[in-house]
Amino acid sequence: MTHSPQHTPEPSRVTVTAERTYDVVIGRHLLAELPSMIGAAARKVLIVHPGSLETSAQAVREDLVAQGYEVLLAVIPDAEEAKTIQVVAFAWQILGQSDFTRSDVIVGLGGGATTDVAGFIAATWLRGINVVHIPTTMLAMVDAAVGGKTGVNTAEGKNLVGAFHSPAGVLCDLASLETLPRWDFVAGLAEVIKTGFIADPVILDIIEEHAEGLKNWPEQAQELWPVVQELVERSVAVKARVVSEDLKEASLREILNYGHTFGHAIEHVERYQWRHGAAVSVGMVFAAELARLAGKLDDSVVDRTRSLLTSVGLPTTYRGDQWEKLVTAMRRDKKTRGDLLRFVVLEDVGRPARLEGPDPALLSAAYGEVSADRPLSRAVAL
Ligand code: GLY
Repeated sequence: MTHSPQHTPEPSRVTVTAERTYDVVIGRHLLAELPSMIGAAARKVLIVHPGSLETSAQAVREDLVAQGYEVLLAVIPDAEEAKTIQVVAFAWQILGQSDFTRSDVIVGLGGGATTDVAGFIAATWLRGINVVHIPTTMLAMVDAAVGGKTGVNTAEGKNLVGAFHSPAGVLCDLASLETLPRWDFVAGLAEVIKTGFIADPVILDIIEEHAEGLKNWPEQAQELWPVVQELVERSVAVKARVVSEDLKEASLREILNYGHTFGHAIEHVERYQWRHGAAVSVGMVFAAELARLAGKLDDSVVDRTRSLLTSVGLPTTYRGDQWEKLVTAMRRDKKTRGDLLRFVVLEDVGRPARLEGPDPALLSAAYGEVSADRPLSRAVAL
């Protein structure tokens, strides 16, 4: 692999071996790959997609009809609004009324919320039918669509209902990133940077080299396709390794939650008006500061965390007057075991570890370091 800008490269393929084996194909204009992922046994396909992707859904539909499939469309709301049991029930109704059998297939076309809910519909229909994901955002490509987590939200919290259900295949068609709003692209980079810090330092080198172009996405998209492809491929490769070893998050998979305990708390306090990636970005700085204060991590890695995130336009601070609410939200996070707060931290780049039940004084000191209104901070000097 190279990270110097060139012409569009060939698609890359990453194989995941969890409770089933499947490929994640990464490249541009990949529709020709879809029939082999759907398979010859299927006669019907339900494309689950948000209304905003009508044109893409019709293009996929026409392609599949030409291949002899009977294709139905389920138009669902955008973003988190899609992740409700009512949306799932609506899809079950379509499946029931069209006699969808065990060999028929669902295609989830959209961002992470769409692939989460499409996966859950597939997991629950007839106790589980095949689903192929076509993620259209950076976040969905490098995280949500790969690894088999599916689910919906309830009034009490996000992702409280769900199932592990691996897809039959994932098509990361980078062409869909060209129309992705800049801020959505940049927010997705937070998960890419997370992956770099926990497992693949080359990702961090690539981002440092191309930060300006990535930050201004999609102005330099034509030159950056090979770079973006390599970033997605490397991120997916890490996720594939992790979920192949620990699909159900007994232990190793927890490392994918680096930056997420504090990040989820920000999302909760902000009533989900912050993008996930922005919250995870601040969460990574918090986790890095926590590890530094606990004597586990060098200043240089903490400084690199801040400068990398800042270089692509991600936030590294949060308001300083919300500590009680944030702690309460962290305690309710489903990753907490018993009463103990648990954090994924780093001992170095590529060396994740766990910190259980840290001293409250360390936690509030780490919060001080990410507070936008802290009086004196190491970050000011950056
Ligand atoms: N998003 C974290 C995971 O898939 O485990």
